[in-house]
This record gives sequence, C-alpha cells and structure tokens, in this order.
Amino acid sequence: MSSFWSNYIIILTVLNIVGCLWLIKWASKKRKGEASEGEVTGHVWDGNLEELNNPMPRWWLWLFYITIIFSAFYLWLYPGLGNVEGAFKWTQVGQYEDEVAQADKQYGPLFAKYAATPITELAKDKKAKAIGQRLFLTYCSTCHGSDAKGAPGFPNLADKDWLYGGSPESIKESILNGRSGVMPAMGAALGGDKGIDEVVSYVQSLSGRKTDAAETKAGKAKFEMMCAACHQKSGEGNTTLGAANLTDTIWLYGGSAGAIKKVITEGRNGQMPAHKNFLGEDKSHLLAAYVYSLSQ
Ligand code: HEC
Ligand code: HEC
Repeated sequence: MSSFWSNYIIILTVLNIVGCLWLIKWASKKRKGEASEGEVTGHVWDGNLEELNNPMPRWWLWLFYITIIFSAFYLWLYPGLGNVEGAFKWTQVGQYEDEVAQADKQYGPLFAKYAATPITELAKDKKAKAIGQRLFLTYCSTCHGSDAKGAPGFPNLADKDWLYGGSPESIKESILNGRSGVMPAMGAALGGDKGIDEVVSYVQSLSGRKTDAAETKAGKAKFEMMCAACHQKSGEGNTTLGAANLTDTIWLYGGSAGAIKKVITEGRNGQMPAHKNFLGEDKSHLLAAYVYSLSQ
C-alpha cells in the first residue's frame, strides 16, 4: 500500500476511536438545567408516568471503555493501522504457510508411503482412494465435476474413453505436466461451408449416424487428406496428441452437426493445467490412483 493510503487509513481509524471516546464522555456529562441522578426530569406521560434521570449502569459504561482499550491493544499487536505490522508481526500468508508446513509434517510420511505403492494397487486401497477423492474435490472438481464426469470441454474421467490414454502412467502424466490439445481451425483449408459440411457428414458417419451418401463420400476424401494425420485414417484418434476418437459416441464438445462444425471451423485448444509444482509428486500419485479407480 502506498504511504498516502496507509496514512489515510491510520488517520481514519484513530479518529474513529477517539471519536467514540469523545462520544461516551459527551453523552455521560451532566448538562446545565438537567435533573440530577435519580431525580424526576419533568417529562410526564399518560397522566402520571414520570421519567427519572437514571443513568446507565456503571458496568455498562465501563464495557464501552474496555472495548476502546481493547482496540488500542489489538492495533498495537496486530496489523490494522495501514502499513503498520503490529508487534506480533502476524500476516495472513504467514499463518497459511505455517498451517501448510504443519500439515506437510503431519501428512508427509503418509503421502510418502502411498507414493511408494504402485497406482494399480492404490486404486484398490479404500483409505488411499478416500484421500484421493478429497484431493479431487478440492483441486479438480471445478473443471471435471465432483463426480469426475466432466462437462463440455472438460473430459469425463470416469469412463474408458481417454484423450491421452488411461494407463496409470498417462493419467499421472496428465496431472503432473498438464495437457494442451491443439485442434487447428480448418474452416479456410476446407474451402468454406460446403467443404466443412461434407467433413461434418463424414465425421458423423464415423459413429454410425445416417448421413447424405454423396456428401459423406466427398468428406471422406477431405478427411483423409487433412485430418488423418492427427485423428488417424480410421478416425480413432491419437493419444500422443490428444486427438479425440471420432468413431465413438463420446464427444468432448458435442456431437451435433452444429457443434462439430464449430470445432472444425474455429479449432479448439483444451488446456489441462500442470499440477506438479502446485501439488507435488505424492499428491498427484494419489490423485492418479483415484482417477484410475473410477474407470476400473
Ligand atoms: C494437428 C492435429 C489435428 C488435426 C490436423 C485435426 N485435428 Fe481435430 N482434434 C485434434 C485435437 C488435439 C483435438 C482435441 C482438442 C482438445 O482437446 O481441445 C481435436 C478435436 C476434434 C473434434 C472434437 C471431438 C470431440 O470429442 O468433441 C473434432 C470433431 C475434430 N477434431 C475433427 C477434425 C477434423 C474433421 C479435422 C480435419 C478437417 C481435424 N479434426 C483435424 C487434433 C487435430
Ligand atoms: C482449469 C480446469 C481444470 C482443472 C482444475 C483440472 N483439469 Fe484436468 N483437464 C482439463 C481439460 C480442459 C482437459 C482436456 C485437455 C484437452 O482438451 O486436451 C483435462 C484433462 C485431464 C486428464 C486427461 C483426460 C483424458 O481423457 O486423457 C486427466 C487425467 C485430468 N485432466 C485429471 C485432472 C485432475 C486429477 C485434476 C486435479 C488435480 C484436474 N484434471 C484439474 C481441465 C482441468
């Protein structure tokens, strides 16, 4: 924070506290012409209901003073006045780091033990899977869903269809180093709408859809020339590139003619972020076991 804003906050805070103190003093002062404590003020209601000048109980007043003294101590010990650190030098980041270090110390050995166990075995271990599931809910469910079944653009991890392969090693690799699927925009290369529609028909025919025969035949020739390098001639895809299998009925971006056309025309670049630095080897290992177990 710049020193201007720091001073601004310090002045505002101190003025507020001094203001409270002044307000209590001012309100508890006896004014000229006011009835003394315990006497009748002169206000009368409903014929004979009189108001006495009964002050607030002392302990009540003292509570106000105590909160003011408390705030002074608090601001001395903890950060609250602009950039002033406070005597305890407490920070949010510091507390977070302490807690993480504490947790690492406590759970580190447990994670290390699991890290030495092969993923296929961990996938059968109830306790390991429960920890993996908790990690998944924390770090992965925002994109892949809490049931790991994904959403358009975010692959389902609970089925047997894999962009990058479903072996324990591939799954762990996806988690540690992330993935980036590059489907280039092919609209221009296909010569516009007519060419695109032909390829769309062919792609739909690969998964058993009924399509126009002539269009599909023209699309097949284009597919073999421009798409087969990544999706293979058969359309079954390539797990090294993450090129989707187009012969099944599982779609990352949707299987309608419109959705397929959009992918082909504009291209796609699905990004799975790398988690190696963030989660580390051991947690990624447990996560891989959990994900692997989902499709077993
Ligand atoms: C450079 C390699 C490459 C080429 C060439 C390529 N694709 Fe792709 N394609 C990919 C990758 C990788 C993905 C997955 C994209 C992602 O994960 O975001 C993909 C995804 C798709 C999808 C979406 C599948 C789904 O499940 O939703 C369709 C449809 C598709 N490609 C069709 C084609 C067609 C038709 C052509 C040729 C005109 C083509 N692709 C050319 C790499 C390629
Ligand atoms: C910011 C969103 C995001 C988060 C967070 C995320 N993922 Fe992903 N993940 C993706 C996307 C998008 C893909 C598909 C990449 C592509 O299209 O090429 C993917 C792909 C994968 C794959 C490969 C799937 C396949 O079919 O081969 C695995 C495994 C995976 N994620 C696991 C995880 C795990 C475990 C976590 C939690 C540590 C996680 N992901 C967190 C977005 C995310």
